[in-house]
Amino acid sequence: MGMRSALISATALLLVTRSDASLSPGPTFFWGAAFSAHQVEGGNDRSDWWDWEHTPGKIARGETTQTATDHYHRYPEDFDLAQSLGLNSVRLSVSWSRIEPTPGKFDEAELAHYRDVVVALRQRGIEPVIALQHFVHPRWFPKMGGWLSPESPAIFERFATQVAQALSPHVAIWITFNEPMIQIVDGFLKGDYPPAISDLNSTTIAFRHILAAHGLASRVLRRFLPPRTKQLPISGVGLALNMNEFTPAHDPGTRDGQEDLRAIAVLKHLSQWAFLTAVQNGKLEYEIPSIPALKKGFHESISIPEAAHSVDWIGVNYYSRYQIARDARNSLGIRWIIPPGGLIYASGLRDLLKQTRDRLSDPIPLVVSENGLNDAKDQLRAPFIQDHLEAVAQARRAGVDVRGYWHWSLTDNFEWDSGFAPRFGLVEVDYATQRRTVRASAWNYREYLLAHPEGPQ
Ligand code: FCB
Repeated sequence: MGMRSALISATALLLVTRSDASLSPGPTFFWGAAFSAHQVEGGNDRSDWWDWEHTPGKIARGETTQTATDHYHRYPEDFDLAQSLGLNSVRLSVSWSRIEPTPGKFDEAELAHYRDVVVALRQRGIEPVIALQHFVHPRWFPKMGGWLSPESPAIFERFATQVAQALSPHVAIWITFNEPMIQIVDGFLKGDYPPAISDLNSTTIAFRHILAAHGLASRVLRRFLPPRTKQLPISGVGLALNMNEFTPAHDPGTRDGQEDLRAIAVLKHLSQWAFLTAVQNGKLEYEIPSIPALKKGFHESISIPEAAHSVDWIGVNYYSRYQIARDARNSLGIRWIIPPGGLIYASGLRDLLKQTRDRLSDPIPLVVSENGLNDAKDQLRAPFIQDHLEAVAQARRAGVDVRGYWHWSLTDNFEWDSGFAPRFGLVEVDYATQRRTVRASAWNYREYLLAHPEGPQ
């Protein structure tokens, strides 16, 4: 063990002993911000997304994550900023492609890097919330079949075991997958994200395997939880699920409106509720409507026993609402429309939190695991945050057990196919100099959270 690792381990031990032994009450609400490895680190050149970015036409302006925000090297500065904003939790992901660059061979230096990262957070009094997978895979994974391979759940379990061993006991809160339905629908049905497959059969297989992978990983992660979980608002294993609010494009009193409503019900079940139900009762049931592009529809009803009772909390990622019109020519038989009033719709968050609560058969808490907007001028962000926190307060007053809010994002970052143009950060990044500047709305957020240590009421 080198001098540096020895020093880190000593600090790490101190952190563990201090917080685990003194059973001082922890926070009751998690205030935070979120980001993912690939979107900020830079240089994740052993991943499928790296190859995708380097394929002409895939990313706006041909941008790549060569340097991104250089968070891989600048994480202490970013965490200082998180601390100065008063955050008590930060949600991030580890990069699977760095940790397991070749199948079954784990890179100890990268595992040590992420240990440094979580220790750096805890040293600043910030609880790390770690996602194992946020859209990106090692390059070899899709080449050996990816989520279509029957081996994939065990491969993910093996990866989860290595990460849990390396980061334990610093991590008490895990996310297995970020937005699994985006990955399933966009990656396998629509084919506009890697692995860019557009096939019904593949979609159903990927769905089953990702659920099983989640379930297996959840068992592993739970085995490594530290005792201090009891002092935290949430702990254990969760998911960050993508959720939108949908309204019919046509008047619901008309035949078209009724068709829109039926399409919304199918869409909402597939994209939001099927995964949520399966991770509680272990039963996967959904329907994919018959549309010309797919020739025929599909009805799934299968047991995934690994997934049963596999979550300790649920994260809701919420950004916007859409109007939906049934349209057989489009993917999934629907057309997404920007509503006349715009995409921002804070009460959608309140409604989705309630709807999610109503679908919980296991009595588990919720958090808002992502919420934010692209606002380079920072004119709308402060009222956006205020209105969405009011929506959280309304949900809580209606009895929904919401225990955290993680704003997307801590800093500006790489927004997938849109590249670096969207500006979601509480902190602005000048990509030419890597200079960070806290946006005014972030100071407003700080004021709000300091005034509401127990969460929005
Ligand atoms: C979510 C993703 C996240 C980010 C935001 C804007 O769907 O989880 O990585 O891109 O959207």
